[in-house]
Amino acid sequence: MLRAPSERDIPAWFARATDVESASLAGDPVPDDMSAGARWFARSRRRFADGEAIQWSMDQAGVSDAIGTITLSFSATDAKVAALGFVLARAHWGRGLGSEAVCEVLRYAFETLALEQVTAEAVVRNLASLRILAKFGFKHTENFIDASDGERCERFALDRDAFENLRARPSGR
Ligand SMILES: CC(C)(COP(=O)(O)OP(=O)(O)OC[C@H]1O[C@@H](n2cnc3c(N)ncnc32)[C@H](O)[C@@H]1OP(=O)(O)O)[C@@H](O)C(=O)NCCC(=O)NCCS
Repeated sequence: MLRAPSERDIPAWFARATDVESASLAGDPVPDDMSAGARWFARSRRRFADGEAIQWSMDQAGVSDAIGTITLSFSATDAKVAALGFVLARAHWGRGLGSEAVCEVLRYAFETLALEQVTAEAVVRNLASLRILAKFGFKHTENFIDASDGERCERFALDRDAFENLRARPSGR
């Protein structure tokens, strides 16, 4: 289930953010101390209030803490385009939960927000992320090197028509 982030998500966010392998796969900096959690939450609220982004916390039945976040960050130059980002706590990897969350947010992006395109980036060694993007019809647009860590990365885009066509197929997600 997706919901708005709350202050009580800060400890679980900090635990995910300080998982070095996960942060490296996501291309995120690893925070030094828990004060980063308060900054994460404040930034998430501010970006939502300013119309820059929507971030959701992911809940899972029977799990008390949020298990991840998923975010749509709106383009500053095109109101119909947003970038997708997602991070799931390691204990929940490999059970289809990342795919479920991406599906839900793509539906919201195209059907509710009526966006025309959702973009995404992934480091080339992030096989789970690349698989999720491929499954939902994202097309590769370019390669680039992350200036902060020298990682080889790829950029992708999914147009609304392509998403709807994929979902209209009998095997579509
Ligand atoms: C990326 C992430 C969200 C994936 O979530 P998840 O719930 O584990 O993913 P799913 O279980 O939905 O699996 C996604 C697909 O990747 C495949 N996959 C998973 N690990 C894989 C691997 N090492 N090699 C190849 N395929 C892999 C799965 O089999 C699945 O494909 P399928 O649906 O065809 O079977 C999670 O691994 C994560 O949070 N990673 C760290 C942060 C991150 O990388 N964020 C994304 C930044 S772009």
